[in-house]
Amino acid sequence: MTKPAVLILLGPPGAGKGTQARMLEEKFGLVQLSTGDLLRAAVAAGTEAGKAAQAVMSAGGLVSDEIVLAILKDRMAEPDTSKGVILDGFPRTEGQAAALDELLAAQGASIGAAISLEVDDAAMVERVSGRYTCGGCGEGYHDTFKQPAVAGVCDKCGSTDFKRRADDNAETVSARLEAYHAQTAPLISYYDGKGVLSRVDAMGEIDRVAADLAAIVTQVTG
Ligand code: AP5
Repeated sequence: MTKPAVLILLGPPGAGKGTQARMLEEKFGLVQLSTGDLLRAAVAAGTEAGKAAQAVMSAGGLVSDEIVLAILKDRMAEPDTSKGVILDGFPRTEGQAAALDELLAAQGASIGAAISLEVDDAAMVERVSGRYTCGGCGEGYHDTFKQPAVAGVCDKCGSTDFKRRADDNAETVSARLEAYHAQTAPLISYYDGKGVLSRVDAMGEIDRVAADLAAIVTQVTG
């Protein structure tokens, strides 16, 4: 049996992890696994994990490794992940990275690529504060950078219901950027040391970034 491809997208809030993960999912048939989305679903469902995560997420901090790992392991055990996954927003701490290594080793799998989306912090507040998503299918849009072809109608599913995230305000974005630099950016060297790191300039247009990522993923999955 072929081993599943495991790809990691690293980058600060607004770097384009979700946007690119969804494009890679479509192009390569991999499954996007966003710990942010899983946590927001837990908050919406009012689970114990969701209740514990809610205040931390609103403040822009990182949810505890214990909660995140429990949610991630459950999701990775689902059968649709067998072809491969794009980890979007995970790992975010050295503890999570070590736990992922252990989990994959137990499955005889390994990380195909850890891709760092390199951006300027200054541009991220604009990207994040202009973001909205389709309430029907989750497709992401932006007030300036990515609008639906027909105003107010999702390109993917035709829904007219759109929503904005509660943590997408300038104050929380600054806290999320700080958390990224303090706790997640060190993982760039961690994966460089393992020989699986690629860096992609993510300041260009969405399709340009997508082409750079597709070239890396083709090599890994090819
Ligand atoms: P999470 O949901 O992961 O949010 P994030 O990392 O802050 O990342 P974002 O979703 O804000 O940005 P993105 O990189 O996906 O950018 P996007 O593609 O949307 O996490 C939220 C919270 O959950 C965390 O703060 C934390 O509390 C908690 N959490 C999650 N995972 C955790 C973990 N592992 N451990 C602990 N806590 C965890 O793009 C942004 C906008 O820009 C969009 O509108 C898009 O259209 C636009 N855009 C994208 N690319 C471009 C481009 N190239 N040019 C112009 N515009 C672009």
